Amino acid sequence: MVWASKDALARARAELGKDEQIRAVIVRMDVTDSRSIDDAHRNVKDRLGAVDVLVNNAAVLLFENDDVLSIPTDGYRRTFDTNVFGVIDVCRPFAPDMVQRRYGRIVNVSSGDGQLAKMSTYAPAYSMSKTALNAFTRILGATYKGMGCW
Ligand SMILES: NC(=O)c1ccc[n+]([C@@H]2O[C@H](COP(=O)([O-])OP(=O)(O)OC[C@H]3O[C@@H](n4cnc5c(N)ncnc54)[C@H](OP(=O)(O)O)[C@@H]3O)[C@@H](O)[C@H]2O)c1
Repeated sequence: MVWASKDALARARAELGKDEQIRAVIVRMDVTDSRSIDDAHRNVKDRLGAVDVLVNNAAVLLFENDDVLSIPTDGYRRTFDTNVFGVIDVCRPFAPDMVQRRYGRIVNVSSGDGQLAKMSTYAPAYSMSKTALNAFTRILGATYKGMGCW
Protein backbone atom coordinates (compact mmCIF):
# COMPACT_ATOMS: atom_id res chain seq x y z
CA MET A 1 0.00 0.00 0.00
CA VAL A 2 1.30 3.48 -0.85
CA TRP A 3 0.33 6.57 1.09
CA ALA A 4 1.84 10.02 1.04
CA SER A 5 2.73 10.94 4.62
CA LYS A 6 0.10 12.73 6.68
CA ASP A 7 2.52 15.63 7.13
CA ALA A 8 3.00 16.03 3.37
CA LEU A 9 -0.75 15.98 2.81
CA ALA A 10 -1.38 18.48 5.59
CA ARG A 11 1.27 20.80 4.12
CA ALA A 12 -0.32 20.60 0.66
CA ARG A 13 -3.77 21.20 2.15
CA ALA A 14 -2.53 24.21 4.13
CA GLU A 15 -0.87 25.66 1.03
CA LEU A 16 -4.09 25.40 -1.00
CA GLY A 17 -6.16 26.65 1.92
CA LYS A 18 -4.46 30.04 1.80
CA ASP A 19 -6.62 30.89 -1.20
CA GLU A 20 -10.16 31.37 0.06
CA GLN A 21 -11.55 30.58 -3.38
CA ILE A 22 -10.27 27.02 -3.15
CA ARG A 23 -12.10 24.33 -1.22
CA ALA A 24 -9.64 21.46 -0.78
CA VAL A 25 -10.05 18.11 0.92
CA ILE A 26 -7.56 15.30 1.41
CA VAL A 27 -8.56 11.90 0.05
CA ARG A 28 -6.04 9.08 0.16
CA MET A 29 -6.03 6.47 -2.59
CA ASP A 30 -3.84 3.51 -3.55
CA VAL A 31 -4.26 3.21 -7.32
CA THR A 32 -3.39 -0.51 -7.21
CA ASP A 33 -6.27 -1.28 -4.82
CA SER A 34 -9.77 -1.25 -6.35
CA ARG A 35 -11.47 -0.90 -2.96
CA SER A 36 -9.32 2.13 -2.17
CA ILE A 37 -10.23 3.65 -5.56
CA ASP A 38 -13.96 3.08 -5.00
CA ASP A 39 -13.75 4.57 -1.49
CA ALA A 40 -11.88 7.62 -2.80
CA HIS A 41 -14.39 8.10 -5.64
CA ARG A 42 -17.32 7.96 -3.20
CA ASN A 43 -15.54 10.19 -0.71
CA VAL A 44 -14.78 12.88 -3.31
CA LYS A 45 -18.33 12.85 -4.67
CA ASP A 46 -19.84 13.11 -1.18
CA ARG A 47 -17.57 15.95 -0.10
CA LEU A 48 -17.06 17.98 -3.28
CA GLY A 49 -19.68 16.81 -5.76
CA ALA A 50 -18.94 16.21 -9.41
CA VAL A 51 -15.32 15.94 -10.54
CA ASP A 52 -14.46 18.17 -13.51
CA VAL A 53 -10.79 17.24 -13.90
CA LEU A 54 -9.01 14.01 -13.00
CA VAL A 55 -5.19 14.07 -13.08
CA ASN A 56 -3.54 10.66 -13.00
CA ASN A 57 -0.07 11.56 -11.72
CA ALA A 58 0.91 8.53 -9.61
CA ALA A 59 3.72 6.42 -11.01
CA VAL A 60 6.66 4.29 -9.98
CA LEU A 61 10.11 4.09 -11.54
CA LEU A 62 11.53 0.66 -10.73
CA PHE A 63 14.73 -1.00 -11.99
CA GLU A 64 15.73 2.28 -13.59
CA ASN A 65 19.25 1.20 -14.51
CA ASP A 66 18.71 -2.49 -15.21
CA ASP A 67 18.69 -3.93 -18.69
CA VAL A 68 15.55 -5.14 -20.36
CA LEU A 69 16.06 -8.89 -19.85
CA SER A 70 17.43 -8.74 -16.31
CA ILE A 71 14.33 -7.10 -14.86
CA PRO A 72 12.19 -9.78 -13.20
CA THR A 73 8.69 -10.27 -14.55
CA ASP A 74 7.37 -9.14 -11.20
CA GLY A 75 9.22 -5.84 -11.69
CA TYR A 76 7.37 -5.29 -14.95
CA ARG A 77 4.10 -6.31 -13.28
CA ARG A 78 4.53 -3.92 -10.36
CA THR A 79 5.39 -1.08 -12.74
CA PHE A 80 2.39 -1.74 -14.97
CA ASP A 81 0.11 -2.24 -11.93
CA THR A 82 0.66 1.40 -10.91
CA ASN A 83 1.53 3.21 -14.14
CA VAL A 84 -0.98 1.56 -16.48
CA PHE A 85 -3.62 -0.59 -14.73
CA GLY A 86 -3.80 1.92 -11.86
CA VAL A 87 -4.69 4.69 -14.31
CA ILE A 88 -7.27 2.54 -16.09
CA ASP A 89 -8.84 1.51 -12.79
CA VAL A 90 -9.02 5.11 -11.53
CA CYS A 91 -10.69 6.19 -14.80
CA ARG A 92 -13.34 3.46 -14.50
CA PRO A 93 -15.49 5.15 -11.82
CA PHE A 94 -14.69 8.79 -12.74
CA ALA A 95 -15.17 8.75 -16.53
CA PRO A 96 -18.84 7.62 -16.54
CA ASP A 97 -19.74 10.53 -14.23
CA MET A 98 -18.12 12.92 -16.73
CA VAL A 99 -19.96 11.37 -19.66
CA GLN A 100 -23.26 11.64 -17.78
CA ARG A 101 -22.63 15.35 -17.13
CA ARG A 102 -21.26 15.78 -20.65
CA TYR A 103 -18.23 17.53 -19.21
CA GLY A 104 -14.90 16.33 -17.94
CA ARG A 105 -11.17 16.28 -18.49
CA ILE A 106 -8.78 13.44 -17.75
CA VAL A 107 -5.05 14.20 -17.73
CA ASN A 108 -2.74 11.19 -17.70
CA VAL A 109 0.80 12.25 -16.81
CA SER A 110 3.12 10.48 -19.24
CA SER A 111 6.82 10.89 -20.01
CA GLY A 112 9.11 11.48 -22.95
CA ASP A 113 10.55 8.08 -22.02
CA GLY A 114 7.37 6.51 -23.36
CA GLN A 115 7.85 7.86 -26.88
CA LEU A 116 8.64 5.06 -29.33
CA ALA A 117 10.73 7.40 -31.50
CA LYS A 118 13.06 8.12 -28.55
CA MET A 119 13.08 4.61 -27.03
CA SER A 120 16.51 3.43 -25.96
CA THR A 121 17.87 1.41 -23.03
CA TYR A 122 16.78 3.71 -20.20
CA ALA A 123 14.38 2.35 -17.56
CA PRO A 124 12.76 -0.38 -19.68
CA ALA A 125 9.82 -1.19 -17.39
CA TYR A 126 8.96 2.49 -16.81
CA SER A 127 9.41 3.43 -20.47
CA MET A 128 7.22 0.57 -21.70
CA SER A 129 4.57 1.40 -19.12
CA LYS A 130 4.42 5.01 -20.33
CA THR A 131 4.11 3.83 -23.95
CA ALA A 132 1.16 1.69 -22.89
CA LEU A 133 -0.26 4.65 -20.98
CA ASN A 134 -0.03 6.79 -24.12
CA ALA A 135 -1.98 4.15 -26.05
CA PHE A 136 -4.63 3.96 -23.33
CA THR A 137 -4.93 7.76 -23.35
CA ARG A 138 -5.44 7.88 -27.13
CA ILE A 139 -8.04 5.11 -27.01
CA LEU A 140 -9.87 6.67 -24.07
CA GLY A 141 -9.93 10.02 -25.88
CA ALA A 142 -11.30 8.40 -29.04
CA THR A 143 -13.91 6.54 -27.03
CA TYR A 144 -15.38 9.66 -25.43
CA LYS A 145 -14.81 12.10 -28.27
CA GLY A 146 -17.88 14.20 -28.93
CA MET A 147 -19.36 13.49 -25.50
CA GLY A 148 -18.05 16.68 -23.90
CA CYS A 149 -15.08 14.78 -22.53
CA TRP A 150 -11.47 14.43 -23.54
N1 LIG B 1 10.24 13.74 -12.39
C1 LIG B 1 10.43 13.71 -13.70
O1 LIG B 1 11.50 14.08 -14.22
C2 LIG B 1 9.32 13.24 -14.62
C3 LIG B 1 9.53 13.29 -16.00
C4 LIG B 1 8.52 12.86 -16.84
C5 LIG B 1 7.32 12.39 -16.32
N2 LIG B 1 7.15 12.32 -14.96
C6 LIG B 1 5.88 11.81 -14.47
O2 LIG B 1 5.31 12.78 -13.60
C7 LIG B 1 4.55 12.11 -12.58
C8 LIG B 1 5.05 12.56 -11.22
O3 LIG B 1 6.43 12.26 -11.14
P1 LIG B 1 7.34 12.70 -9.90
O4 LIG B 1 8.69 12.88 -10.38
O5 LIG B 1 6.65 13.78 -9.12
O6 LIG B 1 7.34 11.35 -9.09
P2 LIG B 1 7.33 11.07 -7.54
O7 LIG B 1 7.88 12.22 -6.78
O8 LIG B 1 7.92 9.71 -7.36
O9 LIG B 1 5.79 11.04 -7.26
C9 LIG B 1 5.03 9.94 -7.65
C10 LIG B 1 3.82 9.92 -6.76
O10 LIG B 1 3.06 8.76 -7.09
C11 LIG B 1 2.59 8.25 -5.87
N3 LIG B 1 2.27 6.83 -5.99
C12 LIG B 1 3.09 5.81 -6.35
N4 LIG B 1 2.43 4.65 -6.31
C13 LIG B 1 1.14 4.95 -5.94
C14 LIG B 1 -0.03 4.19 -5.71
N5 LIG B 1 -0.05 2.85 -5.86
N6 LIG B 1 -1.16 4.83 -5.33
C15 LIG B 1 -1.17 6.17 -5.16
N7 LIG B 1 -0.09 6.95 -5.35
C16 LIG B 1 1.05 6.34 -5.72
C17 LIG B 1 3.70 8.47 -4.89
O11 LIG B 1 3.17 8.41 -3.61
P3 LIG B 1 4.14 8.18 -2.31
O12 LIG B 1 4.79 9.51 -2.09
O13 LIG B 1 3.17 7.80 -1.25
O14 LIG B 1 5.08 7.10 -2.70
C18 LIG B 1 4.18 9.85 -5.27
O15 LIG B 1 3.46 10.84 -4.57
C19 LIG B 1 4.72 10.62 -12.83
O16 LIG B 1 3.63 10.15 -13.58
C20 LIG B 1 6.01 10.55 -13.64
O17 LIG B 1 6.05 9.38 -14.44
C21 LIG B 1 8.13 12.75 -14.12
